[in-house]
Amino acid sequence: MCWRKRIWRVPRTSGASSELFVLGCGPIVAHIDVVALAGDGIGPEVTEAVTRVLGGVASAYGHELTVRPHDVGWSAYERHGTPLPDTTLEACVRGPAVFLGAVGDPRADGLSPEKRPEAALLQLRRELGCFANLRPAKIDEQLVGISALKPEVAVGTDLVIVRELTGGIYYGTPRGAEAGSDRTVNTLVYTEFEVERIARIAFEMAGRRRGRLTSIDKANVLEVSQLWRAVVDRVAGDYPDVSVGHMFVDRAAMELITAPTQFDVVLTSNLFGDILSDEAGAICGSLGLLASASVGGEVGLYEPVHGSAPDIAGQGIANPIGGIRSAALMLSHSFDLQSEARALEDAVTTVLAGGLRTPDLAGPNDASVNTSAFTDAVVEAVALGGARVGAASAEVSP
Ligand code: NAI
Ligand code: MG
Repeated sequence: MCWRKRIWRVPRTSGASSELFVLGCGPIVAHIDVVALAGDGIGPEVTEAVTRVLGGVASAYGHELTVRPHDVGWSAYERHGTPLPDTTLEACVRGPAVFLGAVGDPRADGLSPEKRPEAALLQLRRELGCFANLRPAKIDEQLVGISALKPEVAVGTDLVIVRELTGGIYYGTPRGAEAGSDRTVNTLVYTEFEVERIARIAFEMAGRRRGRLTSIDKANVLEVSQLWRAVVDRVAGDYPDVSVGHMFVDRAAMELITAPTQFDVVLTSNLFGDILSDEAGAICGSLGLLASASVGGEVGLYEPVHGSAPDIAGQGIANPIGGIRSAALMLSHSFDLQSEARALEDAVTTVLAGGLRTPDLAGPNDASVNTSAFTDAVVEAVALGGARVGAASAEVSP
């Protein structure tokens, strides 16, 4: 059995070319190799929390962890003149997994579309071929009281939004201002192929969950949605155990806040999924809680659902849970480390059950802790969980 000494090399927070190696102490079971794109605003704060938590997982389970920071977004534009430098893209394409904090900065508002931080995200998703964005929204028992909904409506919410991520109106051409005209155009386009592959991901997921799929569109108005609906119905024939319903997006926006527990897997397009998942964040209590995994290509892309939150950036108070839960999705999807992913999820639950809250989760009269203290508690909970795992396996060893 291979044992290694634990080595920490701390990355520079700026000029993100240095590498951080954290070698877990114990038998090397897996190599968790992550490209970390901290990005802008609260992105670096959340990414640092995730790096520390992954270090905790590596230590507790004896894995090797490599975190390779690269620039993206406004911070990349400031340093390199582009929001997605070639070095960043090359590292991401090599994979095997990418964590992204957030991009976006008000100073970029005047820039042309291809130089804006958000352009990096769209290009990255397309280059990685991550066409399926999985966004779980499960209300935490301890946080029902801070849901935007009445507790009796919110309790039991447990859904996954499966959002198409590399097509639709965010990518369709022609786009932009028309020369010599007062018109500006965006184009909504989907092919049957694009709809079918995302639909299959959603059906598979529904089959592993409660067997209910709701496909969301605007088929009463949009031809593209009529295609979407027809393809979903055809694919449904291959999944007889999954019950399928269709809902118009305006109705879905209403149903999500009046009866969210009816939803299990929600399948939808790029634009509708973007909007509905922020709504799901409000149901769960804070946008800072929600995680996402973008899969379908060879490299997985994991990001919290929230943006760069310029209003709280630099204060050290960002909620790291969305990032940490994204890291759990990464452990599960990219590294097939299911126990470790569960341990991370459980650690967050343990810390919430212990009463710790970042300011976005605290009531007006409640005490709150900063990002760092919350992260410390999660790392500690992982270590205790890992110790229990170690103890359990020691008991059964001869
Ligand atoms: P946002 O998600 O950054 O913030 C919305 C609200 O939620 C703010 O009040 C913010 O303080 C709060 N919030 C978000 N995450 C939080 C966290 N982890 N902890 C505590 N509070 C949190 O959305 P907004 O304000 O519309 O966009 C800000 C910038 O982020 C824009 O430049 C936008 O383009 C970009 N953006 C980037 C995304 C990404 O990188 N994936 C996604 C969404 C927006
Ligand atoms: Mg969004």
